[in-house]
Amino acid sequence: MEDKKLKIIAFLLFIALIILIVVSRVCFDLSKTFFLIAGAGTAAIVAVVLWFTVQYRANKRRRLLELELVSEGTELRIEYSFLRKVAGVPTKFRYKEIEEATDDFKALLGEGASASVFKGVLNDGTSIAVKRIDGEEHGEKEFKSEVAAIASVQHVNLVRLLGYCIVPGGPRYLVYDFISNGSLDNWIFPQREGRNRPFPGGCLSWDLRYRVAIEVAKALSYLHRDCRSRILHLDVKPENILLDENYMAHVSDFGLSKLMGKDESRVITTIRGTRGYLAPEWLLEHGISDKCDVYSYGMVLLEMVGGRRNVRFVEKGVGKSQRKYQYFPKLVSEKIKEGKLMEVVDQRLIEGEGVEEMQVKTLVYTALWCIQERARLRPTMARVVEMLEGRAPVDEPPDTSMVIVDFLSTDDDPHEVNEPRFGTVAAHRIDNGTPSNSTYSFTMSTLSGR
Ligand SMILES: Nc1ncnc2c1ncn2[C@@H]1O[C@H](COP(=O)(O)OP(=O)(O)O)[C@@H](O)[C@H]1O
Ligand SMILES: [Mg+2]
Repeated sequence: MEDKKLKIIAFLLFIALIILIVVSRVCFDLSKTFFLIAGAGTAAIVAVVLWFTVQYRANKRRRLLELELVSEGTELRIEYSFLRKVAGVPTKFRYKEIEEATDDFKALLGEGASASVFKGVLNDGTSIAVKRIDGEEHGEKEFKSEVAAIASVQHVNLVRLLGYCIVPGGPRYLVYDFISNGSLDNWIFPQREGRNRPFPGGCLSWDLRYRVAIEVAKALSYLHRDCRSRILHLDVKPENILLDENYMAHVSDFGLSKLMGKDESRVITTIRGTRGYLAPEWLLEHGISDKCDVYSYGMVLLEMVGGRRNVRFVEKGVGKSQRKYQYFPKLVSEKIKEGKLMEVVDQRLIEGEGVEEMQVKTLVYTALWCIQERARLRPTMARVVEMLEGRAPVDEPPDTSMVIVDFLSTDDDPHEVNEPRFGTVAAHRIDNGTPSNSTYSFTMSTLSGR
């Protein structure tokens, strides 16, 4: 625009000077005045032409340079976004993109304590799951934990964070790869009739259960041992293990996770998590370590073998203290003592394609090692991988008292999916004359909501 104006001005000046010379020739004939005006006019014309030529060349060079810079910048941008993609660095999304991708949050995939997850598709065709984290303080905390833990990690058995979006004063969003077969609970526990689920479900075969067990152990071992700072997941349960189209496991939901220095042996943190999967030392406020994840993992292993929740509600009493629950881990150790290990296996598998007894023994023994009440007796997750892959011996586990009953503390049915997560300590008492049918009654103190 500037250039165009200059050109017009130079052209008008040029014409005006010529007119001035012509007019002065007519008015002053060939007098001294005419020659003076003609000389000055010609000099001015030469100056204007020179000035214009210099300007034109300078502008041309500037434009060329600009063009070079723009193409270099575009190249750099392309290179940068490519590197971000291959390096798995999460992208910052605009809210509009999230809204369009999810078609205004139409398809709900799941809901947890403080988040809702929606299905979506990005412009390039990638299927995504968008996790919307609500709640001011907790939401912020959960968002930060999740991003801090998962943004820098890469493992085939961990869900991949593609990006995030923050709306000032509003909810926060995390964008994940969509994992098409949903969470493990739909594949190991019998499905409830009449429930409208966004995912398929069924009875996962024994071979796949065993493979999933190894994959989850590998993911946790990677988080505990192979990352720069040790990452504790702290909410390992079937709802947070997702299965893709090939039934490969992807550990997800890092909302409660905690980073731990490699030289730290324990960290103190407020109690959060899901009843039934919380390690006793956490409930007793003794500080936590990677062994808390090992405990929860052991609980999940038993649920995978039995095809049932570890805590089963069997009789409704008038008050909380009269309620009767069946505690599967206790039942399993009793069955081992009676030499009837196969009785604890999911009946659907026994009636179906069958299971391998040696593998059942490996899985159950490993699980019982993992849920030892003394944290130091539990194996590391790396050791668990070796045990499950047959590279380390799996001895018969010692008896453990199983006295922590954090799970028996609320009014709702413990079989509920997406059970609430809690935040304080449960005191406990177990009837000493434990009946042999493994049904126990408990009294407990309060757990407060997060
Ligand atoms: N990447 C994903 N792909 C498919 N489904 C997902 C994905 N992430 C979460 N979900 C679904 O949403 C549910 C809740 O997600 P989660 O991250 O565990 O949230 P919360 O912190 O609320 O528990 C999961 O149990 C699962 O069914
Ligand atoms: Mg969850």
